[in-house]
Amino acid sequence: MNAPVASPPGQPVPTGSFRWEPEEDDVLLCRAVREETHDVKTFVFAPRNARQFAFLSGQFLTFEFEIGGETIHRCYTISSAPTRPDTVSITVKRVPGGPVSNWLHDHFRPGMMLRATVPMGDFTWSGMKAPKYLFLSGGSGVTPMMSMTRSSYDLALVADIAFVHAARTPADIVFRDELEMMGRRNRSIRPTFVVEADSPAETWTGYRGRLDEAKLSAICPDFRERVVFVCGPAPFMTAVRAMLQAAGFDMARYHQESFDFSELAASEQAEIADAQGAIDSTARVFQLDFAKSRRMVECPEGMTVLEAARRAGLRLPSSCSKGLCGTCKSKLTSGSVDMKHGGGIRQREIDAGMALLCCSRPLSDLVIER
Ligand SMILES: Cc1cc2nc3c(=O)[nH]c(=O)nc-3n(C[C@H](O)[C@H](O)[C@H](O)COP(=O)(O)OP(=O)(O)OC[C@H]3O[C@@H](n4cnc5c(N)ncnc54)[C@H](O)[C@@H]3O)c2cc1C
Ligand code: FES
Repeated sequence: MNAPVASPPGQPVPTGSFRWEPEEDDVLLCRAVREETHDVKTFVFAPRNARQFAFLSGQFLTFEFEIGGETIHRCYTISSAPTRPDTVSITVKRVPGGPVSNWLHDHFRPGMMLRATVPMGDFTWSGMKAPKYLFLSGGSGVTPMMSMTRSSYDLALVADIAFVHAARTPADIVFRDELEMMGRRNRSIRPTFVVEADSPAETWTGYRGRLDEAKLSAICPDFRERVVFVCGPAPFMTAVRAMLQAAGFDMARYHQESFDFSELAASEQAEIADAQGAIDSTARVFQLDFAKSRRMVECPEGMTVLEAARRAGLRLPSSCSKGLCGTCKSKLTSGSVDMKHGGGIRQREIDAGMALLCCSRPLSDLVIER
């Protein structure tokens, strides 16, 4: 407790030929699978060649899966810390009926490989110099907080982290032992768990029920003075946000990450639609041929391919709508587009004729392999 307060770490060490470069080799090898709870597993990856990862705590990777003859993309936050750059871990909760999370749990084993993109995202404390933090997580939303806390622990920072995690039962608390261990050995890390109900093996004696202002004030009386990071299921985040606003928290110090891009996508789509609704009726119109779906769609100049398809009632896979996640990546068999992406596609994929439809505006008629 006597060490000076240090700001959280920025970009870590590896540079040059020692750094993992997905543009050169985007395949990651699974080294280990660890059971965290009854429905949460951690998957540890390393590059195929001896390379180290460079990322910021809180960033995510987009992975490519081949499941049932389909290519599917999903994002997973790195739960490991950049202070241990030889491997990266992701920690995945089973989502009932979800194709990827269940496939990972049931079929993915050490020795198997996945393609991944460069780490992305700006939900990070890197570079901040706040004197104290409050991490509020629910369910699998624990992963970015875990990466930040692990870095803080590894670097022996005195970052003053109030780590509050909400779970359904004691058996659902992810990383409980490790958090308690870090808290015992670095007193500036204070984990507290709030659970809704007992589990068959444990009667809970700690905070119980939903997280509300009274509980938060008891756990962390100075919460209004902290920088807050929030991640969890949509209802959890909505409730936490409303609670903090009602408690007079300064929302300029509030940061949140959603694992469900669909809400974001809906509002972004509305914005795009508004912006594109204003498209000049005399604008040029391109013909988009969706070859597999056997659909022709018209796209006015300036509109994205995804939006034109959506307006024509054609549902295409999409997630972030920002050119980040890669979900809408598709092959252009012919034609050209103006694509302004946010890192969700590699140069060599662009060279091979792939495009992200959410941020691609046609420059000619197109044939799209969808
Ligand atoms: C930036 C980002 C980071 C992410 N990091 C993680 C992570 O660290 N760990 C993790 O387990 N997941 C994470 N996810 C969610 C992950 O990408 C998948 O959506 C999730 O594993 C479910 O995939 P699926 O194919 O099984 O089901 P999907 O077809 O993707 O989802 C089925 C349904 O479940 C909902 N859903 C998706 N994820 C969750 C969830 N975690 N809890 C409750 N409902 C959900 C979806 O909105 C959808 O309605 C992250 C998502 C994003 C966008
Ligand atoms: S939907 Fe995420 S990159 Fe297009």
